[in-house]
Amino acid sequence: MSDAPHVFRDISSLRAAVARWRAAGEKIALVPTMGALHAGHVSLVEAARKVAQRTVVSIFVNPAQFAPNEDFDAYPRTFDADLAKLAQAGAAGCFAPPAREIYPEGFSTQIIPGGPALAGLEDRFRPDHFPGVALVVAKLLNQAQADSAFFGEKDFQQLAVIRRFAADLDIPTRIFGVPTLREADGLALSSRNIYLSVAERAQAPLLALVLNETAAAIRSGAAPAQAAAQAALQLGAAGFDVDYLEARHAETLAQIASLEEGPIRLLVAARIGKTRLIDNLAV
Ligand code: PAJ
Repeated sequence: MSDAPHVFRDISSLRAAVARWRAAGEKIALVPTMGALHAGHVSLVEAARKVAQRTVVSIFVNPAQFAPNEDFDAYPRTFDADLAKLAQAGAAGCFAPPAREIYPEGFSTQIIPGGPALAGLEDRFRPDHFPGVALVVAKLLNQAQADSAFFGEKDFQQLAVIRRFAADLDIPTRIFGVPTLREADGLALSSRNIYLSVAERAQAPLLALVLNETAAAIRSGAAPAQAAAQAALQLGAAGFDVDYLEARHAETLAQIASLEEGPIRLLVAARIGKTRLIDNLAV
């Protein structure tokens, strides 16, 4: 067990520590999170520690990326347990600012991401989500001034959006994507899995199973759009309320007709009961 990470509550103390570490020749990595940490988040810290001597994990439940009807108030907040996991994982720092540090009075700026943020996937169902994510991640990257920042492939469209605006805005931090960590039955780890009832939890792995079968079908020659539509029907018949299940170009998230046109990623969002789950898989 490593020492408890140093907790930073304001931007200036975070920047001072980062400057000190950099002056000592150390590389710094940032892992942005909203807390309620699980093994998936820890896997990001582990990936970060491979390239950086100092890893800072931010914990901030960002109001700007939740719609009024979403779970901002109910979002799990487990700071003490999070800190214990970060100590175990060997994080050097935890940046946990109050909302007024990120959005002080008079705050008036928006970021409107394009490209993958308008792919017609998550954005179709959560139109304000990626502007809110882009705003807070741009701010966190500026605040930490880390050499690298780590994000999960679990939120595949989010990762594409972040890569795009970081390049477009000349943000010098190098963006890394980390593969999705899954339960033994295939369910992708998510802070929202705790919302699932026992029956819903038993049903949830079907999402990953259907993605696997669909990827195999496309690799064997099935047309991507038809295979994806078939998979959506299968999930619907099993009781999922499917927002989308689509085969897209893995880098641009544009529509794609066949594997000859480029790498394909399957992306799905579906609700079981009140809980909305997302997942994705390389073909
Ligand atoms: P959050 O949902 O807390 O996720 C933080 C990071 O952990 C994201 O990069 C996410 O993709 C990654 N992650 C979640 N589950 C994972 C899993 N099973 N395997 C691997 N990585 C996983 O995503 C956000 O927070 C926010 O939108 C944020 C980027 C922090 C901006 O507010």
